[in-house]
This record gives sequence, structure tokens and C-alpha cells, in this order.
Amino acid sequence: MSSTQTSETSGSRRVAPHAPLDEYYGEEAKRHRYVIDLFNQSAQHYNTIEKLFGNIGLWYRGYSLRRAGLRPGMRVLDVAMGTAAVARNAAKIVGPQGQVFGIDPSIGMIREAQKVFHGPITRGIAGHLPFREGEFDFLTMGIALRHVADLGEAFAEYFRVLKPGGTVWILEAHVPPSGLGHWLTKMMWGKAIPGMTLLATGSEPAKLLMDYYWDTIDQAASRETVTETLKSVGFDEPRYRMAHPVCEFVARKPG
Ligand SMILES: C[S@@+](CC[C@H](N)C(=O)[O-])C[C@H]1O[C@@H](n2cnc3c(N)ncnc32)[C@H](O)[C@@H]1O
Repeated sequence: MSSTQTSETSGSRRVAPHAPLDEYYGEEAKRHRYVIDLFNQSAQHYNTIEKLFGNIGLWYRGYSLRRAGLRPGMRVLDVAMGTAAVARNAAKIVGPQGQVFGIDPSIGMIREAQKVFHGPITRGIAGHLPFREGEFDFLTMGIALRHVADLGEAFAEYFRVLKPGGTVWILEAHVPPSGLGHWLTKMMWGKAIPGMTLLATGSEPAKLLMDYYWDTIDQAASRETVTETLKSVGFDEPRYRMAHPVCEFVARKPG
């Protein structure tokens, strides 16, 4: 992950989720639209890579949620739900006494999610959650942190909608910063997987999504930036745990 990218905007400090990648979207103001179009165009192919890897990523999300303290009966918000890889697992864990809500800005991804997830889904973004203060016991975000406009703004929203004592769980890709680990990860995620995606789907947007995936994870904010930003909005003892090729962040709202 790269070093912290911050900028001052009307007095507040924006914490960028990754270094600028203007070669894709032109300028920051166009990034959100670019990302949503990319997900809309490749939504039907999104699960292909999960399947190529025997759905181990799906299983891992459930394992990690349990380890972070998700329990039956809890009320969960899954932000950036995509095709419901996290929400499906969360719904199984919380059971009939609990409830899982999903939110995502991409209508294409929401349509795919609705094939496998039958809870309430809202269209929206991490930085402006249409929920009241203190509504959820647990808030999740899987492999999407790089798409928010401002880590501080998104985390402040997570803090607001969680109950006192509530947990935030974030799963994100990890790239070793240098050396052999970086080279191997680049060969896999930057070369092999975009190529395999094109072969398996025949879809140029799906390949472009994987190219973009590699560049954003390679240029993502550091783990320390993520934990410091969680702390700056009020979360207690944010911590991360490495489980190559992903990293999990967990923090609690005091109370
Ligand atoms: C890589 S998918 C992750 C899906 C799922 N959470 C998982 O674990 O596989 C990223 C998702 O983030 C969504 N997204 C993009 N920008 C977002 C934003 N600003 N706020 C919330 N979600 C966003 C996309 O529409 C997409 O569905």
C-alpha cells in the first residue's frame, strides 16, 4: 500500500483511499461515475473469479465475520454489498432473529445481489448512509474501501450508524509494499487474473475492472492510514490482521 494521500478541502482533511489514477478516469471529479459504470458493465461477470478460485473467498468472508464477533440476532449493514458475498454470509450467521441490510451505488451489482440475497437493499454510497444514528450492531465492507471518496467521511458515517459497542469490519486486499512479494502479487493480480478474466468471460469491461483492481490495491492507502483514520472519527483500538492476500480491519464504537 502507498503512503497517505491527504488534501485540505474547505477546512476539512480528505483522506484519499488511493493515489490518483487519472489514466483511468481523467480527474478525481469523474472517478465515482467511472467506477460505477465499470461495475454496472461487468456485474454479470463479477463472480467468475470467485468461482475460478473455488469460492474460497466466499467461505473466508464468513469465517472472518465470525472471528470478528458477528453473532445470531445481530442487525448488520453491509456497505458496498456488490453481489452479496458478505451479506449472504452475514445473513446465515445472524439467522432469523437478526437482519442484514445491503447498500451499493451500482444498479448492475444490486441486480446480481438480488438473485442470492433476499434482505432489504438500498442504493447509496458509503459517505452518505441513509440510516439513523445507532441503528446497527455490526457494519461490514468487503473489498471496496478503495472506491470511497474520503476515508474519514465514510468512517464517520460508519461510526454514526453503529450502536454504542458496535463493530466495524473491513476486508481489503493487501499488496506487500516491495520486493519479491510485490512482484509475485503483481504477476498474479496485475497480469494473470485480468488475462484469465478475459478468457473466462470474453468481456473487456470485466478485464478492465481487474486491471483497475490491481492498480487501486497497489496504490491503496497504508494499513496505518486506515487504522489512524478509524481512530480519528472515534473508534476504539482499531486493529488489522493480515491473511494474505487480504487484510481485515476491526474496530469498536465505545459504549
Ligand atoms: C469489489 S465490489 C465488492 C463487493 C462485495 N462487498 C464483496 O465482498 O465481494 C465493490 C463494490 O463497491 C461498490 N462501490 C463503489 N463505490 C462505492 C461507494 N462510494 N460507496 C459504497 N459502495 C461503492 C461498487 O458498486 C461494488 O459493488
